[in-house]
Amino acid sequence: MSGTSLDAIDAVIVQCGKDIRLLASHSHSIPPDLRAEILSLCQPGENEIDRAGPAHIALGNLFADATVALLEGAGVAAADIHAIGCHGQTIRHRPGSGGFTVQIGSADVLAVRTGISVVSDFRNRDMALGGQGAPLVPAFHQAMWGQHPRCAIVNIGGMANITCLDMGGIVSGFDTGPGNVLMDYWAQKQHNVPFDRDGTWAASGQVEKELLGRLLGEPYFSQPPPKSTGRELFNGAWLEQHLGGQSTNDVQATLLELTAASISSALSAFTPAQVLVCGGGAHNSRLMHRLQTLMGSVPVRMTNDAGMPADWVEAAAFAWLAWARLNGVTGNAVEVTGASRPAILGALYLP
Ligand SMILES: Nc1ncnc2c1ncn2[C@@H]1O[C@H](COP(=O)(O)OP(=O)(O)OP(=O)(O)O)[C@@H](O)[C@H]1O
Ligand SMILES: [Mg+2]
Repeated sequence: MSGTSLDAIDAVIVQCGKDIRLLASHSHSIPPDLRAEILSLCQPGENEIDRAGPAHIALGNLFADATVALLEGAGVAAADIHAIGCHGQTIRHRPGSGGFTVQIGSADVLAVRTGISVVSDFRNRDMALGGQGAPLVPAFHQAMWGQHPRCAIVNIGGMANITCLDMGGIVSGFDTGPGNVLMDYWAQKQHNVPFDRDGTWAASGQVEKELLGRLLGEPYFSQPPPKSTGRELFNGAWLEQHLGGQSTNDVQATLLELTAASISSALSAFTPAQVLVCGGGAHNSRLMHRLQTLMGSVPVRMTNDAGMPADWVEAAAFAWLAWARLNGVTGNAVEVTGASRPAILGALYLP
């Protein structure tokens, strides 16, 4: 799994079936030049096909490197792995009527180099059925935590998404908007660091109420689900168009509040009994503190306390979706994506 943040490739070995267990994990770094090329492919630009082609192959090879390192570290043979679930790197996601989604990272290269079958291209079937193609993690969240009463899972990656579960069923789920992506952009631009560790910089500023109001005025936040979003909307240009003369630390404080406020407001219709948080944003102690404050008496905890470390939930979800593909289990939650029917997701690439 390599998500919106492009911080690293997350590789996991997961036992699936009745009992879902994380057996091993590995974080694989992305070379800066490939990261820069992928980031630039996330925005419309010159000669995209001839640039996306080599990036597709290079990323397939990097996914293979990550897999080899994971297996070596865990002392597991390729022959003992059933399949690799590989989401690929999204470079464009435009859901809706006539919409499309594009992920790169060659599954053929990955299958050939590892000798392991690969399940990839998870989103297109759901979109062909009129769905958003996203988020796809709710079915996995349900398999992991479905039995909890009124439990909300919040993934704070580049974007943030929620899954609302109650007594075995999925009540709702959607992308709430930006997770870390705007805070990362601002930290990179102002301090040349990839992210604001623990939200320390944000905590040094004051939330600019007027700016927060303008940002929350973005129509996406009030749009009813099903909905999904990405860097196509929430990017540096989107932020800059709303800025006035605010101090840089007040902007960071406001961006952290934007993430916390948009998540808590997305959860308000569900009134969860508990909130489990995963994704890199779960490590941002300031963000977790703000989210807890906005959620009042509802406990907000990391998924680490509930059977899966926050850092590996997204990757484990795509391992589970590969298992679902091979076992004829549907992977899209239609109450989340809006697809006309449940579907088995993913294409199979043999080694
Ligand atoms: N200690 C920390 N303090 C603040 N932020 C952190 C910390 N650790 C990680 N992060 C944030 O988490 C981000 C990475 O999160 P994650 O890997 O879940 O996102 P992602 O790759 O976009 O995932 P996806 O799109 O699959 O949800 C980093 O870019 C950073 O912003
Ligand atoms: Mg990541």
